[in-house]
Amino acid sequence: MKIVTKIIDVKKELKEVRSHGKTIGFVPTMGYLHEGHLSLVRESLQNTDVTVVSIFINPAQFGPKEDFKEYPRDLERDSELLEREGVDYLFVPDKNEIYPEGYETYIEVLNLQDKLCGCSRPGHFRGVNTVVLKLFNIIYPDISFFGQKDAQQAVILKRMVQDLDLDVRIEVLPIIREKDGLALSSRNAYLSQEERKAALVLSKSLKEAQSMIEKGERDSVEIVNRMREMINSEPLVKIEYIEIVDMVKLNPIARMEKEALAALAAYIGKVRLIDNTILRVEG
Ligand code: PAJ
Repeated sequence: MKIVTKIIDVKKELKEVRSHGKTIGFVPTMGYLHEGHLSLVRESLQNTDVTVVSIFINPAQFGPKEDFKEYPRDLERDSELLEREGVDYLFVPDKNEIYPEGYETYIEVLNLQDKLCGCSRPGHFRGVNTVVLKLFNIIYPDISFFGQKDAQQAVILKRMVQDLDLDVRIEVLPIIREKDGLALSSRNAYLSQEERKAALVLSKSLKEAQSMIEKGERDSVEIVNRMREMINSEPLVKIEYIEIVDMVKLNPIARMEKEALAALAAYIGKVRLIDNTILRVEG
């Protein structure tokens, strides 16, 4: 695996790769890798000729009071994991490489960026879109792999790719969870043992939502109320939002028909976690 830190070098390397007619798969990350990230990496390795992973903790997507400084980092372990998987290139730019002095250009995807997590994290998706578009322009992947874990991020990035006529296909892969249901997240590293146990109520409430639908419930308000009640029974957990929305525009859905996204964010102590599931009405 080649580790590259400069845009000019990664462009040169990948130009050479492309000139041989090889396809490029790309997995953008902020590092502190877990099985969720690695599931994307494996899919890229299987479906493209050359796999590029980036690790960049993007300051533009963190609010002033958020955890940019504390965000967990372990580049040595991450690069060992990626090397073991058989990744071809690891791109690890520093902050000045991506946002040099005088940087002024940002990408906004209107409406979608203001919903769900956008309410409490203004500017977050603007930062995500900007860095992902820059990375696409640097790496020029054929396919880029994202996790359903960040459902809103995936919806917004698909919209951006469509709206800006980008030549990249976005693949969204399922959420990888611990055996007990907790969705893997780099931020789980912040949780104490007690908090980790409390956090299980999030995935449990999403399971309960699906099981209510299987029992015939179609009213989103009823489902959200039940989820809220479950989560509120866990004193360490504070709900930020729970919503049932359509999967393209992320608008609230009143009555369940075929498919909808149940998405939530909550604080466990000081740690903000998100989780979601695609609710399906069978038949
Ligand atoms: P990060 O949180 O490191 O996540 C990188 C990718 O891994 C994202 O596509 C995310 O959805 C996926 N992922 C995280 N946890 C997952 C899980 N449990 N199962 C499956 N996939 C999972 O998302 C970002 O970084 C950043 O916003 C980024 C896109 C890199 C832009 O800075």
